Amino acid sequence: MRRAAIVGTGAIATSHAEALRAAGERIELVAVVDVDEARANAFADEWGGPRVYPSLAAVLDAEKLDVVHVCTPPRAHVPLALESLAADVNVLVEKPPALSLSEIDTLIAAERDSAGRVATVFQHRFGPAAVRLRRMMAEGLLGRSMVAKSDTLWYRGDAYFDVPWRGSWDSEGGGPTMGHGIHQFDMMLSILGPWQEIRAIAARQARDVATEDVSMALVTFADGTVASVINSVLSPRETSQLRFDFEHATVEVEHLYGYTDAHWTVTPAPGHDDVADRWREEQSGVVSGHGCQLAAFLDALDSGETPPVTMADTRNTMEFIAALYASAFTGTAVKAGQIGPDSPFYATMEGIGAPWANAR
Ligand SMILES: NC(=O)c1ccc[n+]([C@@H]2O[C@H](COP(=O)([O-])OP(=O)(O)OC[C@H]3O[C@@H](n4cnc5c(N)ncnc54)[C@H](O)[C@@H]3O)[C@@H](O)[C@H]2O)c1
Repeated sequence: MRRAAIVGTGAIATSHAEALRAAGERIELVAVVDVDEARANAFADEWGGPRVYPSLAAVLDAEKLDVVHVCTPPRAHVPLALESLAADVNVLVEKPPALSLSEIDTLIAAERDSAGRVATVFQHRFGPAAVRLRRMMAEGLLGRSMVAKSDTLWYRGDAYFDVPWRGSWDSEGGGPTMGHGIHQFDMMLSILGPWQEIRAIAARQARDVATEDVSMALVTFADGTVASVINSVLSPRETSQLRFDFEHATVEVEHLYGYTDAHWTVTPAPGHDDVADRWREEQSGVVSGHGCQLAAFLDALDSGETPPVTMADTRNTMEFIAALYASAFTGTAVKAGQIGPDSPFYATMEGIGAPWANAR
């Protein structure tokens, strides 16, 4: 049986512990770490008594591990992942995996010298409907992809930002682009493939934060699709929506924090009822979540493959975010490949600074 540790036993750690339990005999939670010892102890009591350690270094010293689940606030993600890689242990790191493109490249370089691999938690890629959609596209059933949209319209009131690590560039890495919409547009990227160019705006409308509280982008993809992306924490009627207009059907999902097949609709174009019939052949009540991703992660380890979401795929999503901020803050279109080490948006998503900060 494989052996896992969770570092950071706050809110999202529960989803990891549930996924580990659901994986049954495949993997066991043997250790937990939190800088807040009381929280770690309470978490360990709740989840079957894994051993509690004061630091990741102490766990790596004492335990033989296969996977470290990094569930801390974003600023600690890369240091903890590097520590795990140095010990040749795999890492499953929460989103956003890093604060910048530069940090992602540091992880990619460290992976080359390690037997361990780093995978990012983007759980919505792994729901049965997203897997089916990618398969039907690959089989050519949907025809050409032409138009798409990704709407993350969520609501986070002022109290949400009282937590010290939220709403700042240096600890969260960005606003709803980096922390909330990332789930939806990452799923869009997993379906449409490489993006080519972004034109974006970002604004701080209402929250007392250093980052944006809303961003919007128009995107072109290498396959010719044109798409719009909205990331908001200002929207009282909350929804997470993706829509894809293919030649042969519109495929849509509307959910909030997780979907089953019941949240998806497929509307065939005239003469293409076979697409909807094929979609209905497989119906699943499974919720897209950490359990689906952990199963895919373990499958990859079993077959000797790089576990998803790989650093190469993660880089595509993180570069998309860097380009979105670069476009919004410079007022220009930004192309894939344009943000290299000499760009101010490489070392930090804030880049040249948000217009609202520069206006002060
Ligand atoms: N995948 C998802 O759907 C999803 C949902 C919510 C949050 N998240 C992500 O999960 C991460 C954690 O979010 P959260 O809401 O659980 O935060 P949280 O504040 O509830 O929990 C974080 C925990 O990490 C601990 N911690 C901080 N620094 C540490 C360190 N260096 N070593 C050990 N422990 C440390 C804190 O004491 C706290 O208990 C964030 O990156 C967040 O974006 C992902």
